[in-house]
Amino acid sequence: MCGITGYIGGDKTTEVLLDGLRRLEYRGYDSCGIAVVDGKNSLYLKRVSGRVDALDKLVSAEPVKGAKAGVGHTRWATHGAPSEDNAHPHTDCSGEVVVVHNGIIENYLELKEKLLAGGHKFKSETDTEVIAHLLEEKLKSLHVQAAAMRSDMLEPVFFEAFRRTVADLKGSFALAVVWARCPAMILAARLHSPLVVGLGQGENYVASDVSAFLKYTKRVVFLNDGEMAAVRRDGVDYYNFAGKKISRDSVVIQWDSTMAEKGGYKHFMLKEIHEQAEAVENTLRGRLLPLGGPALEQEMGLTTAAMKAFSAVQFVACGTAYHACLVGRVLFENFGVHASADWASEFTDRARLLDKGTLVVAISQSGETADTLFAVREAKAAGAKVLAITNTVGSTLTREADHVLYTHCGPEIGVASTKAFLGQLAALYLLAGHFAAARGSLGKTDARRYAEELLKVPRLIEEILAQEKEIARVAQAFSHSEHFLFISRHVNYPIALEGALKIKEISYVHAEGYAAGEMKHGPIAIIYKGMPVLAVATSGRALELTAGNVEEAKARGADVVAIVDQDSKKTVKASRYVVLPRTEELFTPMLTVIPLQIFAYYVALAKKCDIDKPRNLAKSVTVR
Ligand code: F6R
Repeated sequence: MCGITGYIGGDKTTEVLLDGLRRLEYRGYDSCGIAVVDGKNSLYLKRVSGRVDALDKLVSAEPVKGAKAGVGHTRWATHGAPSEDNAHPHTDCSGEVVVVHNGIIENYLELKEKLLAGGHKFKSETDTEVIAHLLEEKLKSLHVQAAAMRSDMLEPVFFEAFRRTVADLKGSFALAVVWARCPAMILAARLHSPLVVGLGQGENYVASDVSAFLKYTKRVVFLNDGEMAAVRRDGVDYYNFAGKKISRDSVVIQWDSTMAEKGGYKHFMLKEIHEQAEAVENTLRGRLLPLGGPALEQEMGLTTAAMKAFSAVQFVACGTAYHACLVGRVLFENFGVHASADWASEFTDRARLLDKGTLVVAISQSGETADTLFAVREAKAAGAKVLAITNTVGSTLTREADHVLYTHCGPEIGVASTKAFLGQLAALYLLAGHFAAARGSLGKTDARRYAEELLKVPRLIEEILAQEKEIARVAQAFSHSEHFLFISRHVNYPIALEGALKIKEISYVHAEGYAAGEMKHGPIAIIYKGMPVLAVATSGRALELTAGNVEEAKARGADVVAIVDQDSKKTVKASRYVVLPRTEELFTPMLTVIPLQIFAYYVALAKKCDIDKPRNLAKSVTVR
């Protein structure tokens, strides 16, 4: 949430910062800004309320010469409304110290009071601005005769003042700081909010997310909590918060920057919907056969003995990833393993009740979601082992979990999650299959069938994607509706929730996902004549009952779109159908969600909504 970018070294400072901000806009986009130190050691600061395009116009109208270092930020408001004054970077009273920050400074009011009493003048409502003034105060307390000192001699002073500033902060932060008097060094620090250093030749980068600089370098160092970096053009030094130098190894990122481009699609979301067959294929590749075999076990670091020993599985996640958890619960229960699923933000008290025989499975596309990380920490404190399912190599979740199972979906840029969800589902089918095989609840023949059925999924997804135009027409017919209801049962109940979430996120209209059998216990009262009800009713044990619930909705005037297969179509009476290829009931969620994503996309398109950057949202939610 919020994006940070920083650059030092060459002549392309503003270009790199603006390009980085554009790539980070999915993390927050209500305001943005950059600050660079020009050739004469003065700060050039530009901020706008709004998007990076507006900032770019402003910067292009008044280009800055000789800038060799700078930082940028794109914001998702927490403290203070989205406005130019509250946009980052923030400065101290002298206007020489600039700070960009992600996270929340929990003790900012206390710090601000002291700084105000000391005569500091604040220009914004943000928690971030206290950091700039605090740093100014620390620089003063080190009695810097700045004017009389050469800028390279100021580096140790700047570093020590920054270290002392960081020591006073409580909460979560990723920070990048520039001081105009000492322009050959950017300082950065991380606590509970991601920050990564990019290593170039004669130039270096810092950002909240590798996508900001992937175009320029793939060699990176992910900072850990409690670490700082002094980033200079010729190298980077790493320290702990006590100021002790530490050594850090770099890793090479496999993602390509073109993977984060639209490739001819109107929106990232549509591109990512179309990448879902590949996403499932990539997640399954080389890990499926034989189920219960050693390859995946080694990768996750979970032995057959350990899988046998767990008495239960507890899933935690947020949003779309939570819906994947609900599917996971059904899969594990199908194989006779006790399983439960909770929103990470509601998990706190339950974590204390975990017993050591429970494996906690935390699912997160970004691996940086604050609620999920907090739930993981609580689970670990209670003595439970944690397995992370994530798409993001090097993310905080991967470093805190005991075991990791990667989805291999490539970068997901659209704020509304689509292909990451499919990757999470594929990983869950893998995991459940391996658990079942290890525990003897999936014999050799059944394991082969299970694997074969899973391997068919990418092809079936392609068949559904080929129906995009017809699904778009159905969406068009309902694009003026102000309410949508999604119903289903059993393994597709989470898909009803996901269908409703997609509409809410990108079209801003009210949508409910409900368990079809629960409707008659109250919510059926909301149905009015012509209300669109999308019912997922594929063949299987839930079919007859779901078809009955569809009748109940129709009897109250609902206009039903049924997501069916050729066989179940005969049982479900609806005014419109989306007909899916047939697969076994257990595997249907990986298919049934696709038409609902396409439906949501085309409703939002008809409403002319900003599909890749829906209002009020951010891709990576790093606050609790
Ligand atoms: C919905 C969506 C969010 C995320 C949620 C968790 O389309 O994207 O609901 O699923 O914020 O994010 P991750 O998976 O990164 O932990």
